[in-house]
Amino acid sequence: MPFRHLPDSSVIARAPGKINLVLRVGPRRADGYHDLLTCFQAVDVWETVALSPADEFSIAVSGDVNLGEIPLDGNNLAMKAVAAVGRATGRTDAVSILIDKKVPVGGGMGGGSADAAATLIAINELWKTGLSQVELLDIAAELGSDVPFLLEGGTALGRGRGEILEPLKSSPFHWVIVPSMEHLATPGVYGRLDELRSEVDVVLPESLPDAFIDALYRGDPEALAPHLINDMAQAAIDLEPELEATLEKGLACGALAVMVSGSGPTCAMLARDHHHAEAIHAACSEGGRYAVVTTSPARGAHLVSR
Ligand code: C5P
Repeated sequence: MPFRHLPDSSVIARAPGKINLVLRVGPRRADGYHDLLTCFQAVDVWETVALSPADEFSIAVSGDVNLGEIPLDGNNLAMKAVAAVGRATGRTDAVSILIDKKVPVGGGMGGGSADAAATLIAINELWKTGLSQVELLDIAAELGSDVPFLLEGGTALGRGRGEILEPLKSSPFHWVIVPSMEHLATPGVYGRLDELRSEVDVVLPESLPDAFIDALYRGDPEALAPHLINDMAQAAIDLEPELEATLEKGLACGALAVMVSGSGPTCAMLARDHHHAEAIHAACSEGGRYAVVTTSPARGAHLVSR
C-alpha cells in the first residue's frame, strides 16, 4: 500500500494506464478535437488515489515517475473529478487527495486521466453519492477524452474523441513500456499532426481490420504485430527526435512491434511472451534506462481495500 497514516474514513481506488494498439486520427473538427478510431487497452501499471475528509481541499503526489509537471491545484484532473461529482450531487465537503503515480507523466498513457477515473470511483464511495457507472461515464467524458475508457478498462474500440466506447475481447499480451525523460503535451502533438497533414485529404477508417480483432481475441502477438499503428507517431517523433532511437532499439532487441503510445513520448514494445518481455526489458534498460515489463488487458478503475 503506497500510503501511510491514512484516517480510517479514507477511501482508496486505483486505475490503470493505457496504450492505443491502433490510433487512427481524422481531420481536426470545428471544436478543435479530432475524431478517432482507436483500440484502447488498459495495462497492468496503476495510479492509486486515497481520498479523505478534510477541513480544506488539498492534493499531494508521490511516485516513481517524474512528478515535476503535475499541477497541485484545481487544474489537477483528480481535483476536477471531485468538483464535477460535487456539481452533479450538490456536495461541497472538502477532501484531501493523495495520488501515487506509476504511469509516466505526460507520456501518452493516460496517467492524469487514470487519476481522474480512480478519483471518480473513490469520491462516489466516500460521499456515498450512489452515482451509477453510466452517470460516472458521463462525468468522465467531460473531464477528458481518455477518462471514460480508464473507468471501464479492458480493451475497447474508441470513437468520437475517444469517449464513445465499445468493449472488445482480448487475450493477454506482454509488453515493455519505455518512458522518456521528456513530456509531450497532447495538444502540441495534435497540432504538429495537423501541420504534417495540411496538404493531405485525411480520411478516418471506418472500422478496425478483422485480422486485428481476430489476433486480439486469440492472443496471437505475431499476428497482432503488423496491425499496430499510430497516426500520431511521426508528429511525436518530430517534437522529440530521440524517440526514433528508442523505437529502433526495441526492434533491434527483437520486439515484435514497437510503437509510440498515444501522443507519446512513452514507447510500447510488444513481446511474444513473458520471457521475451524480460529479454527486451534487459536490453532496453542498459545504461540505467528505466523500462517496465507489463501485461494487458487490465481491469478498469476500482476500489482497493486497505
Ligand atoms: O480530452 P483531453 O482533455 O484529454 O484532450 C486534450 C487535448 O488534446 C484537447 O484539448 C485537444 O487539443 C487534443 N485532442 C484532440 N482530439 C482528441 C483528443 C484530444 O485534438 N480526440
